[in-house]
Order: sequence, then structure tokens, then C-alpha cells
Amino acid sequence: MTDLIALDLLPAEAETLLKAPGRLALIAEAGETLSPLQRRLDRAMRGGLKRAVASEVFGKLKPGEAMTLSFPPGIEAEAVILARLPKRAGVEASRKAGAAIAKAASGKALTLLAGNRRDAADLALGVMLRSYAFTAHKTAEEDPPEGVRMLVSNPEALAAPVERARALAAGVFWTRDLVNEPANVLTTTEFASRLEELTALGVEVEVLDEPALEKLGMRTLLSVGQGSETPTRVVVMQWKGAEGAPFALVGKGVVFDTGGISLKPAGGMEDMTMDMGGAGTVAGTMKALALRKAKAHVVGLVGLVENMPDGRATRPGDVVRSMKGDTVEIINTDAEGRLVLADVLWYAQERFKPVGMVNLATLTGAIIVGLGHEFAGVFSNNDKFVGDFLKAANAEAEGAWRMPLSPALDKQLKSNIADMKNVGGRPGGSITAAMFLNRFVKPEVPWIHLDIAGVASVKNGTDLAPKGATGWGVLALNRLIETGYEPRPEGKTGKRG
Ligand code: BES
Ligand code: MN
Ligand code: ZN
Repeated sequence: MTDLIALDLLPAEAETLLKAPGRLALIAEAGETLSPLQRRLDRAMRGGLKRAVASEVFGKLKPGEAMTLSFPPGIEAEAVILARLPKRAGVEASRKAGAAIAKAASGKALTLLAGNRRDAADLALGVMLRSYAFTAHKTAEEDPPEGVRMLVSNPEALAAPVERARALAAGVFWTRDLVNEPANVLTTTEFASRLEELTALGVEVEVLDEPALEKLGMRTLLSVGQGSETPTRVVVMQWKGAEGAPFALVGKGVVFDTGGISLKPAGGMEDMTMDMGGAGTVAGTMKALALRKAKAHVVGLVGLVENMPDGRATRPGDVVRSMKGDTVEIINTDAEGRLVLADVLWYAQERFKPVGMVNLATLTGAIIVGLGHEFAGVFSNNDKFVGDFLKAANAEAEGAWRMPLSPALDKQLKSNIADMKNVGGRPGGSITAAMFLNRFVKPEVPWIHLDIAGVASVKNGTDLAPKGATGWGVLALNRLIETGYEPRPEGKTGKRG
């Protein structure tokens, strides 16, 4: 498990700044006045800070970007990291600045002067998110990152918002750890036992094994895992922060997707270790909610399964019956995510009667063709619900783009011998996948399907994440729940920031 970087809040004082070891991070904007403490520092640096802020290089930085001044005179620090950010910056730029600072500090002791900036908690979140590294399988001892000291004018006032940022970052880190973990380590049973760790935070966790799933009739789910040595599981996580019907999160947890008998080509198959990204995001969101003690009733359900070719594996042409009762002709065993979700979605609705339901899945390669690695595909049967989600995703700078549900594409799922088949043609592949899921959603349940195949893990990293798993969705879902399903905190009116 990757721990959060230690981040302490200290009162901003000249002495601490001048004596700061390692890296000293400052935030300025060309044309805006320096703060009194920054001016004090500039005097010690013999005018070097003002010159840097007035320089052409600094002027060319975008908001949230940073540059480094090496071995500045007159102060203890061996480098000053200077981030460009206006005094009143948006959430996205502030987090990006924090992340740019963390990246530049690269694990060295860091002192960040935030003074009386209102976005201090977002700066802290940016620093924490970008300081993630997945080192579980690196044998050579790497120096653990040194802590961050954040110098602020009112440490007490910032304690609560920074604690909230820690809860969110811990959720995102957990998602990233699960998604980065290889499939020989994160088997279905290992995944389930990691989820059981949530009980320590007050989450009720239940693990359904194969006999239990068989009894429930979850044959589309079980058909996916029947060629694997690692047994299929459904894990149910309940966070009871409020009374009443819950909000439901459902995740695809294919710990490895070979394609099954419809085997995938060898090139790039190793990436399919992230095919449990939906389940990983559900897990991280549940953790963030529990850590910040959200006043909402939220259930998380994940279908954990491995898609392997084997003598017992599902054959193309096999017909299976879903828990709902509809039969499915499995034309392509590589279209397995929808078979997993069909049963888990149905179970979630039958058991919990949720007020709203969001599922997440690395479901189709086609969504990457359509939306690249910047946007998740968003499908919904409810305009108000999806509007709220898109607002939350936008506020958290997590790319999301609505795609249509289409009865015309649903026609492609017609089977000659069963109620439906599991694939349509190539055109509109992400939409037919969504239409398949739609058949297992009760029309009265507000529902969103998030196809996260392009955003769950990225080769080049993002502003807030190094290469690999991003944790996309934890922040947006947390915000959706916070703004839509929790009472407003006492004494606060208007929109929450
Ligand atoms: N897990 C894949 C989708 C995927 C592709 C996720 C690339 C992440 C990156 C999914 O199970 C799959 O194989 N989908 C098929 C569906 C097809 C057989 C209809 C696909 O996208 O090719
Ligand atoms: Mn597949
Ligand atoms: Zn898959």
C-alpha cells in the first residue's frame, strides 16, 4: 500500500523560510505583488526572486506550471521552485501547481509557502496526488520521500480542509495501487481480502463466493470466470453514513482479461491487468467516503473475475442465463465486462433499491478510439442525474463526455437462439456495450455507465499522476455524493467550493 506523503502545516515565519532545507516552493504571478514574506525572502536572495518573477521564462509559464532556481544566494535551500498561479486561481490550476511543485521536488525535503492563500488545501491535494509512486515491486531500496512542510498564516483554520484532502488522496492512492498491481498478485481472492480491510474504517464488507453466486443465479458473471484458477467473487461494501435507500456504485473487476477463448493478440495484452479499473475506482471512492465520514448511505459492489482460456472456459456460441432471467448467447468471450456487470447491476437493484446507480468499467477499446485518454464515456438514462455528474467531474477536472444510448444500436444485440447476444458489430461498439448494460437496468433507476477504458491507466502520466493508474473518478464520484446526497454543512449557504 502506498502511503500518503507526510504533510505538516506550520505557521509561516521568515526564520523558517530562510532556513528551509532542500527545496523551497513559492507561488507568484507576473504583475501581482509579492507577499510580505516573499519580499523578505527576495531581500535575502538579493532581489533574485523579483527578477525571476519578472523574467521572460516565468512569463511564459502557464498557470499551474513551475520553474526551478538552483542554488539561490542568501538562503539555506538548494533550490527554489517557483510556480505560476494567480492569487485567485481555480481548483484545477491550484492542484496542478501543487503537482508541479511535487514533481520538481522529486521526493526531496520540501517547504511550500502558501501564506494566506485560500486554495491551500487544493495545493496540498495536488502535492499529495503527484507524489504517488508504485514501488511495491522495486527491489532496490529507493529513499522514501521526505515530508512536506506547508507554511500557512492560519494552520488551525486549514486543519479540516487539509484532512479532507488527505481522505481524497488516500482513496485515489488505493485505486491506483489496486489498478497498478499485476494479476499474479491481485487475484480475485487477494482483491476481496484487500477490500475487507475497509472494515477497519467502519465499512461493512461481505464476500459472496461461487456457491452463493450460483444460488443467486449469476450465470453471466460466473461464465466469465469458469476458465480461471482464481475463483469468482462479488464483494459488497456498505458505508452507512445516513439512513434511507442507498446510492450504488458498481464496478467491473476483471483482474486479467486474456479475452478467453476469443483470445486477444499478444501485443499489449499485459495492459489487461488494469481491467479491474472500475472495481478499483469503486474501492477508492468507498475508502475516501469512509475516511471523511461522509453523511450518506453508499453501497459499492464489485464483480471480481478472471477471463482465461481453458478446457472449462466459455465457448463462443454458448448460451447462459442471467440472474435477471434473460438468456445471452456469448458470441465473443472477450466482451466479458458486460456479462460481469449485467448480473452485479441486477443484484444491486434487487437487493438495495438504490436512489441512483453509477457503474464504472474498462469496457471497450472503442471508447479510446472515440474519446482518447482525456475523457471517460458517460452514458445515462436520466438527464438530471447525468447533468449533476458532469458538473462534478468538471469541477474536479476529470474529463467526461456524454455519449448516447440508442435503441437503433440495441437492435444489433438480437440473437437467433437466445434473448440477446453479447456483441453487436464494430460500428458504435461502446454504445452497443452500453445498450447491453441498459437491458439490465430498471428504467425507473437513475443510472450512469462510465466507460473508463481510456482514462483508468495512462502511458504518459497526467498533471496529477505519474505513468500508470490515474485513480480517475474517485474525486468526481466523491463530489457527486457530497453535493447531491449529503446534507449541507451547518451555517454554509450557496455553492460549496
Ligand atoms: N477490457 C476490454 C476493453 C479494453 C480495451 C479496456 C483496451 C482497456 C483498454 C474489454 O473486455 C474488451 O475486450 N472489449 C472488446 C469488446 C469487443 C469484443 C466487442 C473490445 O473493445 O475490443
Ligand atoms: Mn475483454
Ligand atoms: Zn475486459
